[in-house]
Amino acid sequence: MNKRQARLFAIGSTVVAALAFLGLTIDSHRQFPKLTNAQNITVAVTHGKDVWHKNNCINCHTLFGEGAYYAPDLTKIAQHRGAAYLHAYLKDPSKFYDEQRHRRLMPKQDMTDVEIADLVSFLDWVSKVDNQGWPPRPILVTGAVIGPMGARPAGQAAAVPAPLPRLAPAVVDKDPIALGEAVFRTSAPACTACHSLVPGAQMAGPSLAGVATRAQQTVGSAGYKGQAKDAAAYLRESIVQPSAHTVAGAMYSASGVSFMPATYDKDLTPDQIAQLVAYLATFK
Ligand code: HEC
Ligand code: HEC
Repeated sequence: MNKRQARLFAIGSTVVAALAFLGLTIDSHRQFPKLTNAQNITVAVTHGKDVWHKNNCINCHTLFGEGAYYAPDLTKIAQHRGAAYLHAYLKDPSKFYDEQRHRRLMPKQDMTDVEIADLVSFLDWVSKVDNQGWPPRPILVTGAVIGPMGARPAGQAAAVPAPLPRLAPAVVDKDPIALGEAVFRTSAPACTACHSLVPGAQMAGPSLAGVATRAQQTVGSAGYKGQAKDAAAYLRESIVQPSAHTVAGAMYSASGVSFMPATYDKDLTPDQIAQLVAYLATFK
């Protein structure tokens, strides 16, 4: 290669690289409206974003991994928790953990109901932005867990579901209990986002350790408000109609409305619900 050829080569490859860069940039911009659900950016969402900034949520939390790493990432929180829980949490976070034991984790922000509703709309929009699979799993910050630390027994680490015995793939295909375990982990939102199977480990929902035995006692008790007559029916009712009877505690329900999403009845098939019940019935 002589000098002139070398120069041509340098210029040519710079032009090709610049064109590729420009093309890909234009292509990305072309996709932004679709990836970000631009058509769903309502007045409430825009106002909710202002509320987010006004209250400096970013000083402790991250969205899309941006912000401070003191408190959990909230990119997908609206999908993991649902609106009823978020409303109650933002109204008074101190109800969701023990301030005596853990000191103040999240300050009460004294927001109006409209501000909270718009903030929840904003977080809901954020949770639906197509991040192409990011984050691969809920982000945990050192020292914080996804969910209230309130009733976690002293000295116990973050609430992680107990490992379950592995079954051979052929068994998993047909065994309702194994299928139920899979639904438990993969439903949207995943049951594991709010329920631990470790005894005493409360997350956004109560630990489901021993839930089958507890179900039996609940349906027989005087305080029971639902329709179920036996443990299996109670487990089913808890999933498809969470507010029929609620586990006691201000961090679990308000005015008789459970913070557990009431969406599983339509989002899961009857088979999947039956499999979940079979799975939960094993926790005696
Ligand atoms: C001073 C730091 C701080 C600020 C400011 C703050 N938070 Fe938090 N927040 C926390 C901590 C710490 C937790 C975790 C509490 C726990 O583990 O029980 C939390 C928990 C939450 C949760 C519950 C998460 C879950 O997994 O259930 C939500 C929702 C939330 N914050 C939203 C917000 C919003 C919205 C704002 C702004 C209006 C905000 N936070 C401002 C520290 C903060
Ligand atoms: C957003 C958090 C959340 C998610 C997700 C969630 N739950 Fe719940 N769950 C709760 C809360 C809060 C309660 C307590 C209030 C009540 O009784 O409804 C509860 C209660 C229950 C109970 C009753 C427990 C008892 O001791 O009587 C069962 C059973 C249950 N959930 C099963 C499930 C299953 C199965 C899934 C997944 C399909 C699921 N939950 C998903 C929050 C959640």
